[in-house]
Amino acid sequence: MNYFNYQGNKLHCEEVPVETIAAEVGTPFYLYSASTIERHYRVFEEAFAGVNHLICFSVKSNSNIAVLKLMATMGAGADIVSGGELYRTLKAGIKPGKTVFSGVGKKEDEIRFALDTGILMFNVESFEELETINRIAGYMNRRAPVSLRVNPDVDPRTHPYISTGMEKNKFGIPVTEAFYLYRKAAGMDNIDVIGVDCHIGSQLTSSEPFGEAVAKLMELVNVLEDDGISIRYIDVGGGLGIVYDKESPPLPSNYAETILDATGNTDRTLIFEPGRVIVGNAGILVTKVLYNKKGPTKNFVIVDAAMNDLIRPSLYDAYQEVRTVIRSDREEMVADIVGPICESTDFLARDHMLPRVHSGELLAIMSAGAYGFPMASQYNSRPRCAEVMARGDRYQIIRDRETYEDLVSGERFFKD
Ligand SMILES: Cc1ncc(COP(=O)(O)O)c(C=O)c1O
Repeated sequence: MNYFNYQGNKLHCEEVPVETIAAEVGTPFYLYSASTIERHYRVFEEAFAGVNHLICFSVKSNSNIAVLKLMATMGAGADIVSGGELYRTLKAGIKPGKTVFSGVGKKEDEIRFALDTGILMFNVESFEELETINRIAGYMNRRAPVSLRVNPDVDPRTHPYISTGMEKNKFGIPVTEAFYLYRKAAGMDNIDVIGVDCHIGSQLTSSEPFGEAVAKLMELVNVLEDDGISIRYIDVGGGLGIVYDKESPPLPSNYAETILDATGNTDRTLIFEPGRVIVGNAGILVTKVLYNKKGPTKNFVIVDAAMNDLIRPSLYDAYQEVRTVIRSDREEMVADIVGPICESTDFLARDHMLPRVHSGELLAIMSAGAYGFPMASQYNSRPRCAEVMARGDRYQIIRDRETYEDLVSGERFFKD
């Protein structure tokens, strides 16, 4: 359920015609619906009503500070993977005490920053990382709260590039080794063991893998408790999928049922790290048709957005629905919707059915609110596009379109 709908023949974001924003802001731009983000958050939250829990929004999915501010206002915490993401959450007012720090390669300065701000816990992914955190906490005269990210070796049945909880993936500590590492952690001078964690992948469209993974975590928690290592937080990661095309992912309520079945009657705090399910269908990318081009075997619609703006189709062969911003009853055609970048992988959609379009017409790439702008680059020296947020009949630019000046800022000539 989202607030991108046609009113008459015009696509609206909430109560604002998308073409009105395009006329002021230019194209391409990302457009987010604040009410949709809030609605998705609340539905997720309600699914766990009555259970001790904390929702740590996965900042990597959409890290604009206006989006993070919405999260802060609703009481969310954050799942971060870098010092930069921590900086953004602090700017937006998310409480560090509700922030978990994930990722396989935390750098020393990032660990210091996180200890300084007093985050809830580090989700640790290796023995060497644990030793590093212990050492830095020691220098700083602090204790570092940690959980170990366990790799439960469960197939999430999603795209291989977004699977993270299988033995072959770089993430987490094998479940078979976790117990020994927990013992080591519990014996370290500056470490407080407080949780267990896993994250098995993204865009999961069935509940079972979540259930399997959490069941393995719970087995580990019981073994640890028997050994005198008490666990207060069970972080089950993110990963709940959304509808891009014809998928039928579990509703948050079904997801909750699976998780709560696996955790049983626990009074520990459950932590969730959702990203895509909150923001994915709350954003679109608006682009303008530049040219139509008929190849010998294909129609191409060349638009002013490209893989540098939205890389999901190129990176994961991901499907994004494309709609015309003004609904039309023109004859339909099948075309590849491609950008101006000099790569054959620069496409936003392939073999997509859409009405015949003309130069200057606006298109909306739907379901672009997660892993859209945060993955944008300046490849081909294309300034990154603007981001806009709408609520009701109002909209505001929440990130300016970059300029040519921005492209070279920080660069300097080599002095002979
Ligand atoms: C550790 C961790 N937590 C949470 C997420 C969010 O996943 P999603 O956006 O699928 O909910 C990710 C994304 O890959 C992640 O790596």
